[in-house]
Amino acid sequence: MAPYSQFVLALARLLPPETSHRLTIKLLGAFPTIRHSAPEDPILASRVFGLDFANPIGLAAGFDKSAEVFAKLGRFGFGFVEVGSVTPLPQAGNPRPRLFRLAEDQAVINRMGFNNHGLVAVRERVARRRREHGPILGINLGKNKETLDAAADYAKGAAALAPNADYLVVNVSSPNTPGLRDLQGREALAELLARVMTARGGERPPLLLKIAPDLSTAERRDIAEVALQARVDGLIVSNTTTARPLNLKSPAAKEAGGLSGRPLFGPSTAVLSDMYRLTEGRLPIVGVGGIASGADAYAKIRAGASLVQLYTALIYHGPDLVDRIKHDLAARLRADGFATVAAAVGADHR
Ligand SMILES: Cc1cc2nc3c(=O)[nH]c(=O)nc-3n(C[C@H](O)[C@H](O)[C@H](O)COP(=O)(O)O)c2cc1C
Repeated sequence: MAPYSQFVLALARLLPPETSHRLTIKLLGAFPTIRHSAPEDPILASRVFGLDFANPIGLAAGFDKSAEVFAKLGRFGFGFVEVGSVTPLPQAGNPRPRLFRLAEDQAVINRMGFNNHGLVAVRERVARRRREHGPILGINLGKNKETLDAAADYAKGAAALAPNADYLVVNVSSPNTPGLRDLQGREALAELLARVMTARGGERPPLLLKIAPDLSTAERRDIAEVALQARVDGLIVSNTTTARPLNLKSPAAKEAGGLSGRPLFGPSTAVLSDMYRLTEGRLPIVGVGGIASGADAYAKIRAGASLVQLYTALIYHGPDLVDRIKHDLAARLRADGFATVAAAVGADHR
């Protein structure tokens, strides 16, 4: 890692995690990004749900919740950036503290509760973007805490943001909004997806469903069936976990919320592999959870991911990690004789 990046990371770790995050967003917003990442290796290019990705490494939802700096984040070498979760009305989220570092475990626990600037502000920001310059932009949709008719909130989000998104995500898997994860049940999910599809108005942009890692075998089977029937364009697997592996070392492990980072890698990859098998490879999957290296990204791809995303590892390793992962992933593909990322997707199932 460059000495400058090491210095900035060390400094950022002295601050409480949420202060450090707000400061990062402010700094990115205030200064022109002079940074240019390494040129793209053509072996990493792929076409997934009708979009051309220069590389398969994306920034996961939750970092740029209100679409304040997504264009600049593209400069760090991501093939795509997902903003949100966005709710129809602006929302303050849960009381602080609500974000905790588990440094010994290379993990984070958050119970943010969909703090974001709301649909109107986000729509204005994404409408101003110049598509030819920015990264591929996903917009992740959530619901306001007080809304009773959940599907109505997702439908509002889809209707308002479809024109400016390269893809949309229905997020029914965050653990910090009461009742949200129940929307993953068979009937609720089928109804929700039907309403969001109607609100989108037409076939585009692609619509993805983001699911939790904490699902029973029956729940996974139901989701696979409903997703195929509803003709969603892809799945994102997975969100944070409410489980607490027994080997966590950090004192903050007792905090309530969703756990992300290294301890999530195994469980989220197992669910990804299962969803690939249950959908017979017919739905592209975005693999997310605990990726911190080229080896991790490659393992998700072999388990069935067409694309991957990360968030928590950036907190511990800084943005240079993106170029390192790309470099290492390309080397691993070549070493195993794959000419493209697409050729390696689901390789472990064959
Ligand atoms: C602080 C924080 C906030 C998050 N907010 C959201 C969110 O608003 N919507 C969402 O779908 N996922 C959210 N996530 C989950 C991430 O997108 C991702 O699924 C999860 O962190 C696993 O990836 P990782 O281990 O690489 O961090 C958040 C994660 C973190 C750490």
